[in-house]
Amino acid sequence: MLNCMVTGGCGACVVLVSTYDPKLKKVEDFSVSPCLTLLCSLNGCSITTSEGLGNTRDGFHAIHERANLCRCTGNWPIADACKTFVADVDIEDLGINSFWEKGDSKKTKVSKLPPYDPTKNFSTYPEFLKSESTTNLDSSRYPWYSPVTIVELRSLLNSKVMENDASFKLVVGNTGSVHYKETQRYNHYVDIKHVPEPSIINGDQTGIEVGATVTIAKFISFLNEESKIKFGSYGKLVSEKLAYHMEKIASPFVRNSASIGGNLVMAQKNGFPSDIATLFLGLYATVSLMTIHGLENLTLEELLSRPLLDSRTVLLSVWIPFKKDQSSLQTHSRFCLIPIELLHHLMGMHWHM
Ligand SMILES: Cc1cc2nc3c(=O)[nH]c(=O)nc-3n(C[C@H](O)[C@H](O)[C@H](O)COP(=O)(O)OP(=O)(O)OC[C@H]3O[C@@H](n4cnc5c(N)ncnc54)[C@H](O)[C@@H]3O)c2cc1C
Ligand code: FES
Repeated sequence: MLNCMVTGGCGACVVLVSTYDPKLKKVEDFSVSPCLTLLCSLNGCSITTSEGLGNTRDGFHAIHERANLCRCTGNWPIADACKTFVADVDIEDLGINSFWEKGDSKKTKVSKLPPYDPTKNFSTYPEFLKSESTTNLDSSRYPWYSPVTIVELRSLLNSKVMENDASFKLVVGNTGSVHYKETQRYNHYVDIKHVPEPSIINGDQTGIEVGATVTIAKFISFLNEESKIKFGSYGKLVSEKLAYHMEKIASPFVRNSASIGGNLVMAQKNGFPSDIATLFLGLYATVSLMTIHGLENLTLEELLSRPLLDSRTVLLSVWIPFKKDQSSLQTHSRFCLIPIELLHHLMGMHWHM
């Protein structure tokens, strides 16, 4: 972890992650919360912290003018530990902040910060890193695998290294760790977000296929953009309603990491009260799985009702059909369409926040 291992709730730790696609020669920037991000998942990425935007040398960015205190819990034990050494010292008396004096008003404080030059060139992804952007981590040194094809993923999951089901974990955004604290350490993590098949999003007049590793943020922007062009009037309506509800899930920086599949697997394995599962059930979604026996297609309802998925089973994608006769977008009637046992399974638990 890069930070204080907390809940992804406050946003105090948010950094900008930049990735580079050598084929498209394109840099992509997005915010994430480091307290939820596994360090190895950032291999080949460039990180810009708030100090990267401005600092004592270059002047402070507007963001530094806002005091923000993390209340996610992580800072209190740190503050308590510091106080055991300097119980009666005020941190400002230590001269750590060389700009402000005790008693300065907020306005005076802001005026004393070095000025920021917004015209200065600012690159989120340094040139030297571009040649290393696709280098894989050495799995003999790090407990980390990043397969880049479905065949590689399949043979890895069937290999001797992964013989013991409890010794490894599939991972995408790792935001599920907020809700289900790990009681064990895994020997291996298998990062599946570089496998192309579960990363696709497609749609036409008949429905949408969304890969399991697609983040909630990417799915929302797809729904907002594509619905205007490709879908018929009913598909457009479904997409707009889906996007509207998805935007209520977590915060933007959590949605940038949190995957659709991770959310549904948490509903399947942990009984997580997932909004996404509820929405998709109402739309009669079906899913594709890759098990050790091969590929399997089933309805989301069947997936949620069957025994817990084993560690080797990968959710590949979800198909959301645009079928007017089966689904309804009215909240009350949508719930009526879901079998009552499933609703209990999904809604009967409370948020662990
Ligand atoms: C602050 C916060 C607020 C949230 N608010 C909401 C909310 O309002 N509504 C809501 O519905 N959800 C909410 N969530 C849940 C969030 O949507 C999920 O944590 C997220 O989608 C999980 O995706 P992930 O990529 O991070 O999964 P990970 O944490 O990487 O994985 C979660 C689990 O799924 C397994 N897994 C992941 N992908 C696959 C796959 N393709 N095949 C098989 N197994 C897989 C992993 O092994 C792990 O067991 C919230 C989460 C946070 C942190
Ligand atoms: S410390 Fe990361 S979101 Fe609060």
